[in-house]
Amino acid sequence: MQAFNFKVPTEIVFGRGAEDKAAEKLIAYNAHRVFITYGGGSVVKNGLLGKIEKSLQNAGLFTQAKGGVKPNPRLSWVREAVQEAIAFKADFILAIGGGSVIDSAKAVAHGTANPEIDVWSFWNGTAKLTQSLPVGAVLTLSAAGSETSDSAVITNEETGKKAGLNTPFNRPALAFMNPELTYTIPKKQLICGTSDILMHTLERYFTSVKEENALTDRIAEALMVTVIDATRRAIKDQTDYDAMSEIMWAGSLSHCGLTELGRCKDFACHKLGHELSGRFDVTHGASLTAVWGAWANYVYRDDIPRFAQFAAKIWGITDGSEEERAKAGIEATLAYFKEIGMPVNFTELGIGVQDADVLEALADSCTAGGTKVVANFHPIDKQTAIAIYQLANQ
Ligand code: NZQ
Ligand code: ZN
Repeated sequence: MQAFNFKVPTEIVFGRGAEDKAAEKLIAYNAHRVFITYGGGSVVKNGLLGKIEKSLQNAGLFTQAKGGVKPNPRLSWVREAVQEAIAFKADFILAIGGGSVIDSAKAVAHGTANPEIDVWSFWNGTAKLTQSLPVGAVLTLSAAGSETSDSAVITNEETGKKAGLNTPFNRPALAFMNPELTYTIPKKQLICGTSDILMHTLERYFTSVKEENALTDRIAEALMVTVIDATRRAIKDQTDYDAMSEIMWAGSLSHCGLTELGRCKDFACHKLGHELSGRFDVTHGASLTAVWGAWANYVYRDDIPRFAQFAAKIWGITDGSEEERAKAGIEATLAYFKEIGMPVNFTELGIGVQDADVLEALADSCTAGGTKVVANFHPIDKQTAIAIYQLANQ
């Protein structure tokens, strides 16, 4: 097991009615002026925004809300919101929504705490983030894990670049997690969300670190089996509280760093997928499953025993040679994605078969113009990225 440093400071309030504790908990974090971010309107329609605003105001807090965050959240929205939050003198940012809304809240917190710096500078690496405001999240969609993660992903729509920022300042202070709030998510978001959760652990299971790490492996395997099982149950009944609870909790655990302890993360498919979302605005989870099979088939020979372990622990595959089992595990994963309705190639993703120059542009952006090698299980340079995109390009 490799050395690690693990700090997840987020206070998690989990269960039915969790959001009713928002006022009490925000006050404990010294909030006075709460700037609320939300998305395209689902929380207006179902009354959640109004209910939370009222409870905060009744407790003596000042609030100002800004909606309109789009999936694959945009930099222009963040810049506008930063100006509004500064004018409002916000001292706490509260997200009510899914990953896009939470990531936008994180960006607003960073921008508001550093009014003299353009917020994108933290994402393109030209400025270092040294302070921010506390962020809380009322989670309405289990997927990105942003409610506990150290990451925030923003798209600069002027350049089409979707970029992640990893920093301890991205860890929310508070997460309110009521599985009942996720009952209304559209089926597409349910399956994209649980696929993203699965991928957050998959992309930490296959890495360059080969030392024994039994406990982290078993946590990861249990998480993946639980997510697969709960997804099948949730598809049948989205009001299955227990299934939606397993999914919600797995979403946080999958991306808080727990399943990489003593190891590292690879995130090849996230890097490849972000390019697809940046260019074609496709849903994040779908961008991942659309390339996972191509990635796995391209790289599995690098560590056949690891793929065979995955096949055995996740899919119960024990027959055949080690290589046959490894391949059967990949096929079982792809069959699962198809069973729940997720895309496994570009056509199913809805972008169609792409020309060679598009694949090259995607690979170019993924590897910073061919200057960077990303991921580590199988290091991905520009030519490798093109080869993997080619396999998915059907
Ligand atoms: O905008 P509204 O009207 O609220 O509708 C949203 C949105 O259209 C809807 N929705 C959410 N909760 C709902 C609901 N509809 C009905 N009932 C509810 N309870 O779902 C749609 C998608 O929301 P979004 O927030 O975009 O989804 P998700 O949570 O999957 O977040 C995706 C974003 O997170 C990033 C992704 O790249 C993507 O931009 N990620 C963030 C990470 C992080 N910060 O750690 C890690 C991930 O790997 C990921 O990259
Ligand atoms: Zn993800």
